[in-house]
Amino acid sequence: MKALVAYFSAKGTTAALAKTLAEKTGADLFEIRPVTPYTTADIQWTNPLARCNREKIGRKDVPVADAVADWAAYDTVYLGFPIWYYGAPNVVQTFCKAYDWQGKRVILFATSGGSDMGRTAEKLQPFVKNGQIIKAQVLRGTSGLEGLIL
Ligand SMILES: Cc1cc2nc3c(=O)[nH]c(=O)nc-3n(C[C@H](O)[C@H](O)[C@H](O)COP(=O)(O)O)c2cc1C
Repeated sequence: MKALVAYFSAKGTTAALAKTLAEKTGADLFEIRPVTPYTTADIQWTNPLARCNREKIGRKDVPVADAVADWAAYDTVYLGFPIWYYGAPNVVQTFCKAYDWQGKRVILFATSGGSDMGRTAEKLQPFVKNGQIIKAQVLRGTSGLEGLIL
């Protein structure tokens, strides 16, 4: 059994949790890095013309810079991201679409400004084709991390 922690983080909050989770589980770590990194202006969601809003409204794919090596070797994938607009950021959807999730157990973890998971898992499931999302949790600090570990 081999586990992967794959994460996207624009500001570092989710990244810190992902690293801790990888240490605790002995999982490999993969950063979902957009080809074009987000600047502060890009994620200024109060600006209707900001990149994040254009991507969201346009349902745009956001190309990912690297690919996971040896994807087939993992049976468990911890997938972390910040909640954006009550769901997973588009770049996470784009990442998920690129892989075959058959036979993989998927655990979602997120950070947020206050929102819970809501319908995040349901909305992401079509992109995690054939994968089984078995847990989904918004974390506030590192408490709660242990509860996610299989
Ligand atoms: C474009 C955008 C949309 C967001 N939407 C939400 C939201 O719907 N609910 C929420 O609680 N927080 C929202 N946030 C806040 C982030 O989820 C929160 O700051 C998160 O911890 C950032 O993680 P990071 O440091 O790993 O990027 C949003 C932030 C951005 C930039």
